[in-house]
Amino acid sequence: MQELAYMNGTIMPIDEAKVPIEDRGYNFGDAVYEYIASYQGKLVYLEEHLDRLDRSMTALSFPKMSRDMIRRAILELFEQSGIQRAGIYLQISRGVAPRDHAYPDDPQPQFMMTVRPVHEKPPEFRHNGATAITLTDLRWGRCDIKTVQLLANAMAKQQALEAGVFDAIFVSESGIVREATSSNVIIANDGRLITHPLTEQILPGITRQVILDICAERDLPAEERFFDVDTLYAADEVFLTGTVTEVLPIVAIDGRTIGDGKVGQMARKLSRALLESVGA
Ligand SMILES: Cc1ncc(COP(=O)(O)O)c(C=O)c1O
Repeated sequence: MQELAYMNGTIMPIDEAKVPIEDRGYNFGDAVYEYIASYQGKLVYLEEHLDRLDRSMTALSFPKMSRDMIRRAILELFEQSGIQRAGIYLQISRGVAPRDHAYPDDPQPQFMMTVRPVHEKPPEFRHNGATAITLTDLRWGRCDIKTVQLLANAMAKQQALEAGVFDAIFVSESGIVREATSSNVIIANDGRLITHPLTEQILPGITRQVILDICAERDLPAEERFFDVDTLYAADEVFLTGTVTEVLPIVAIDGRTIGDGKVGQMARKLSRALLESVGA
């Protein structure tokens, strides 16, 4: 079992992988990423991650890269690592060019990855639920593109930790609940799920979609619509969804207890269904 890096076709130890100082990802945040997890030696939702990567690259007019080449590189890095429960962080930047806001004429994207064991969430959060604060969403206007411009997310996560809670939930100036720093937000009321619709203000989370598909298969009502922070506080259940987050119940927000303050039925049911679907 070995943590490894991949740089433009070469696999190496992580501390040997270096980024040139004029990489546009480094200078401008001009890079996109994905984080793909494995369970028991099998990468899950790989094609969905490749679809979203392609969407992000297209949205930023990156040159087209072969999907087969990207898939092969991911699988080779994963196999060489021998890590059963792995997290592959993949980043593609527009490439290296003298610093200039305008895109270079002939961009050569840089393709980098690392593979490490997944940094699991503390089990006590899964058993008893986690806590959160809300913060005004200070991020840019294209949160649907999975770019490395994550400073506002990092600031919000840090603020949450300093406030003694697990995460921050972004709320728009007008009070609409968007998503958390690295997860989508779903609420449940009377057995009915509600989550923010797919707009430019949230990431189209793969786990969010898996949960919506599970609901559709099981005839559980789920709606994609806007809801405000008072609806969030008054929900029976709130949970976060994400590749590492999985389904994570939130039992208090801004110091207010959600529902009865315990992990709810819906979160338990959907968490089990998600883990079944990934073969955990
Ligand atoms: C801002 C944000 N929202 C939602 C998600 C969840 O997405 P996924 O389920 O594809 O991991 C992430 C994951 O990185 C994220 O960064």
